[in-house]
Amino acid sequence: MVNTVLVTGGAGYIGSHVVKLLGERKERIVVLDNLSTGFAESVLYGELVVGDVGDQALVERILREYEVDSVMHFAAATIVPESIADPVKYYTNNVCASNALLGCCRQAGIKQFVFSSTAAVYGQPAGGIATEDTPENPINPYGRSKLISEWMIGDLCSATDMRSMILRYFNVAGSDPEGRIGQSTIDATLLIKIACEVALGKVDRLQIFGTDYPTPDGTAIRDYIHVNDLATIHLLALDYLREGGASSTLNCGYGHGYSVRQVIAAVERVHGSRLNVVESSRRAGDPPNLIANTDAIRKQLHWHPQLDDLDTIVSTALAWEEKLLAGME
Ligand code: UFG
Repeated sequence: MVNTVLVTGGAGYIGSHVVKLLGERKERIVVLDNLSTGFAESVLYGELVVGDVGDQALVERILREYEVDSVMHFAAATIVPESIADPVKYYTNNVCASNALLGCCRQAGIKQFVFSSTAAVYGQPAGGIATEDTPENPINPYGRSKLISEWMIGDLCSATDMRSMILRYFNVAGSDPEGRIGQSTIDATLLIKIACEVALGKVDRLQIFGTDYPTPDGTAIRDYIHVNDLATIHLLALDYLREGGASSTLNCGYGHGYSVRQVIAAVERVHGSRLNVVESSRRAGDPPNLIANTDAIRKQLHWHPQLDDLDTIVSTALAWEEKLLAGME
């Protein structure tokens, strides 16, 4: 019998897209989310328990009562600038809570653990392209909090028969192509979301943070991956671990990037309007260029992206913003 999957943070942006795909293939799911940034209505399948990942009594009860044998751990604080302003929040939410969860996993004998990590663990890799064996050198508290969590998971896997898949996300964007869920975070700071909000008049202007980077147009370059393609990776990772695959760390991106100006141009193209753009100084903690080498994930998980197209990413993001706007009216 296949047991239940615990999805922490399953009411959040990325977690809810993974829950959707797990539910579509009829997995048994329990979501644990404190709804601090997530939304109950984003959980399309499974059961939602409202609570904290750091609440060990609660987590122990969930693991036992739902017969959980696999954990997907999304719950975290994820905003780079906020992590610089409030590092304690990041070490509490991301490191301490993950450690509490791992303690419960050890006690319950969890077999498979899939972890949401980040390209921010690399900092600024030489040449702007990161392979999984590029030395980690995070340049902000968010990246450091995730790297510490990676180490904790690795150490527990060495000590027990738990196996893990650490997924290092690059820049996740877009929304469910069927329009049911999307990026709803209040006060989001992500480029594509804000650019869409500006296009729709929800926000009055888009600031470009830095126009003097050593890139072709002077603005920073990122590897934007559609959230649905990223969600699919999690199912492949779970299958891989269930089939006995060894613990691994994999980059999640497309292997090519776009500058801030290219993203703005895509939003203008898809929406058919000009954005109100202001050039500003660099934002603290931002690397100039961050792109994934994706050879490993394509080979190991046989992953084939379905939505590797900037205009597709932008059009799903824009459709979701339109839906949110309609809901507010
Ligand atoms: N940017 C702007 N204006 C904005 C927002 C962003 O110019 O209003 C720029 C940023 O300076 C950066 C780029 O757009 O150069 C992307 O910024 P985001 O805030 O969208 O994303 P980040 O690259 O800062 O961080 C995201 C996730 C992290 C993850 C990282 C990995 O938030 O969790 O991608 O690359 F670690």
